Amino acid sequence: MASILNHHIAIVCLLSYISFSTFNFVSSISSSTYIVYVNPSHKPAPYHTHAAWHAALLQSLTIDPSYHLLYSYSSNSAFAASLLPHHVPLLASHSSTLHIHPDTFTPLLTTRSPTFLGLPPYLSSVPSSNPSMDVIVGVLDTGVWPEHPSFSDAGFSAVPSRWRGECESGPDFASSVCNLKLIGARSFSRGYQAAGGNTSAASPRDLNGHGTHTATTAAGSPVANASLFGYASGIARGMAPGARVAVYKVCWTQGCYGSDILAGINGAIEDGVDVLSMSLGGGSAPFFRDPVAVGTFSAIQRGIFVACSAGNSGPTPSSLTNTAPWIATVGAGSLDRDFPAYAQLGNGKQYTGVSLYSGGWNEKEILPVVYNKGVQVGSNSSKLCLPGTLDSAQVKGKVVLCDRGMNSRVEKGLVVKEAGGVGMILVNQAANGEELLADSHILPAIAVGAKNGDIIRDYVLSDQNPTVQISFAGTVLNVKPSPVVAAFSSRGPSTLVPELLKPDMIGPGLNILAGWTKSVAPSGLTADERQSDFNIVSGTSMSCPHIGGLSALLKAAHPDWSPGAIKSALMTTAYMLDNTGSPLHDSANGTQLATPWAYGSGHVDPVKALSPGLIYNTTTEDYIAFLCTLGYTIQQIRVITSSNSTCSHKLSTPGNLNYPSFSVVFGQRSRKVVKYQREVTNVGPAGSIYNVQVTGPASVSVSVKPQKLAFRQVGQKLRFTVTFKSVKVGSRWDAEFGWLTWNNGHNQVRSPIAYTWNY
Ligand SMILES: *[C@@H]1O[C@H](CO)[C@@H](O)[C@H](O)[C@H]1NC(C)=O
Ligand SMILES: *[C@@H]1O[C@H](CO)[C@@H](O)[C@H](O)[C@H]1NC(C)=O
Ligand SMILES: *[C@@H]1O[C@H](CO)[C@@H](O)[C@H](O)[C@H]1NC(C)=O
Ligand SMILES: *[C@@H]1O[C@H](CO)[C@@H](O)[C@H](O)[C@H]1NC(C)=O
Ligand SMILES: *[C@@H]1O[C@H](CO)[C@@H](O)[C@H](O)[C@H]1NC(C)=O
Ligand SMILES: *[C@@H]1O[C@H](CO)[C@@H](O)[C@H](O)[C@H]1NC(C)=O
Repeated sequence: MASILNHHIAIVCLLSYISFSTFNFVSSISSSTYIVYVNPSHKPAPYHTHAAWHAALLQSLTIDPSYHLLYSYSSNSAFAASLLPHHVPLLASHSSTLHIHPDTFTPLLTTRSPTFLGLPPYLSSVPSSNPSMDVIVGVLDTGVWPEHPSFSDAGFSAVPSRWRGECESGPDFASSVCNLKLIGARSFSRGYQAAGGNTSAASPRDLNGHGTHTATTAAGSPVANASLFGYASGIARGMAPGARVAVYKVCWTQGCYGSDILAGINGAIEDGVDVLSMSLGGGSAPFFRDPVAVGTFSAIQRGIFVACSAGNSGPTPSSLTNTAPWIATVGAGSLDRDFPAYAQLGNGKQYTGVSLYSGGWNEKEILPVVYNKGVQVGSNSSKLCLPGTLDSAQVKGKVVLCDRGMNSRVEKGLVVKEAGGVGMILVNQAANGEELLADSHILPAIAVGAKNGDIIRDYVLSDQNPTVQISFAGTVLNVKPSPVVAAFSSRGPSTLVPELLKPDMIGPGLNILAGWTKSVAPSGLTADERQSDFNIVSGTSMSCPHIGGLSALLKAAHPDWSPGAIKSALMTTAYMLDNTGSPLHDSANGTQLATPWAYGSGHVDPVKALSPGLIYNTTTEDYIAFLCTLGYTIQQIRVITSSNSTCSHKLSTPGNLNYPSFSVVFGQRSRKVVKYQREVTNVGPAGSIYNVQVTGPASVSVSVKPQKLAFRQVGQKLRFTVTFKSVKVGSRWDAEFGWLTWNNGHNQVRSPIAYTWNY
């Protein structure tokens, strides 16, 4: 999944011995980190804290906690320990242990987006009466560049008194850098260190850029004249410019460890955040083995809204991560903003692509263009512009055409530049489709889609003397169609729970401008000496903090809404028509329409989400009943719930969770009829009367009982039952889609329905 991220986080190598500053391991070479979940009801009364009990438990097994205990988690009944091989069976067989698993490793997964989302204009400062000032957004990521202008606290009142967090000092981070806007900054690196990672300068400072980008997207203060070297210029601001930000650095140079993520989530819960935005994750382990799922369950229990990236592994089906029902799983779409550039070939034909190039460039100059000029290194040809594959003699002074794939897009530019090339045409592979990612390349470069790229490549290979003129057209707005689902955005169906429709929604995630660190260039290349306060990046890492920030606005407007209610409001008001009135397209194949497996309920519409009419509320008890239907053992469920759950209450199927969307799987045990129940809460005016509308494929007959819901009061709850009957014989993995909408003439409370046949 990391390949599409601009700042690729590679897999950590467990090779070198590191001398630990804080933990002086006797033999760290053979030790590995484990996360150990213990039964909270086994804690003997004399131990006042979980930490003391965890230490005693290790001691009783002659495992010295001062050497081996990395973290004690207070919100989850668990700890992380660096264990020698013979320790593992001792702990696994201890009567208090519910579950033990090796630490996990995960990669990391604006000026335009507020207007695009229809948020009211927000000028140069934050009004002091802004209700979102009481909302605290926690961001788990690569840390923060605290001096960034987006963390200006001009106009902010005192920090809410319930805040218990801190601003940790470090070698390059004074605790005085926090202010009334950036109210907390902490770092968690014990898991990373135990795996051999170098955190010699452990502090919350962002040396990557990803964390500053996500934090400023969620809740950056307004900054006038923001741009990346003139591109995407305007007032940059986060989704909730009035909210406070607390940053938890859990991802380091090479990635993020589950033990650190769990510690960061626990820290954020204790500190008192209201929202968690987590642009990280990977894989699809069962919920009890996934620290993001386990940690965020504790957050939800305490009323904290959680947004996570859906992943960047699209358009491959079933490529989602972070699919627990208590998480808002966020995919990515495009904005209506583009950065066009043109390649005029020697044969007179002109092709359009994108570029962020700025600087001296003679648009009149006709330059020779070459492809695949160099030496094959192993199985790697020069087509991909991998390091060491270009021949300077044949490339010098020329524009080089490079195919996408294998190495990062910006590294290809560096390879061309170092070989003496003067420009690059970067061509999409078929799987990238026509989606154009704008990157801050180190040399003049134009990115083109697969179709145009194939034509240009054919020209370069067949013409005797191929040439190109490249010109740049700056920033263009009101691009149509938009939004379009990003090709890289991970897709459903969910493999863990096919009866749960995921992702939940999409938000802006393509070519997003937001704050950046001063410690690396916008290209992320060490060879690049440029600096910028802002950068343009793409990924579901960028769409996730949009939803995190918007949830803070909803929380400010409706302080009594549960996280499930906020998610329901965002989902049932999302739209699925683009700015040309067509259903949303899929960038992976521009001619095809996207489906709810790509966009969930649709694209977020924050203004409508403020008054959704009806809410599909979900409580902690609902989630526990849902977990109890998944076939997990009671121990595995207790790992997630940190309580004495007994599964006395189960759902008839996981699809019966009171969720704002539907996924119907026909054929399990030859079922042709699936029945789901839901309950909706009236958050609109008293006296609202809703009628149901169902659209969808002819292959399913749908009946809803009752067809009319009449609410006498605000806050009243009414139930309905939907019966789905397959009237065709579907083949395995056949899929179709439909919608169920409650309409009162003013609100359309819309839910997508995904149908799968699994005979
Ligand atoms: C769990 O159950 C045990 C025995 O059934 C009880 O003593 C204990 O108080 C319970 N703990 C919690 C956290 O509910
Ligand atoms: C660890 O990082 C620091 C600063 O980032 C660097 O000075 C040091 O050489 C690194 N150590 C190792 C073992 O890589
Ligand atoms: C923004 O840029 C414009 C034009 O370059 C300039 O007139 C204005 O003073 C700048 N505003 C700020 C706040 O820097
Ligand atoms: C091909 O290039 C990739 C990416 O740079 C590299 O990891 C791999 O080792 C190369 N393969 C060979 C055979 O050189
Ligand atoms: C949803 O359920 C929670 C937990 O039971 C409750 O606090 C909340 O008031 C309910 N309604 C809404 C709209 O959040
Ligand atoms: C896009 O979809 C159309 C219609 O299904 C199909 O014919 C075409 O081959 C697809 N193109 C790509 C690049 O997948």
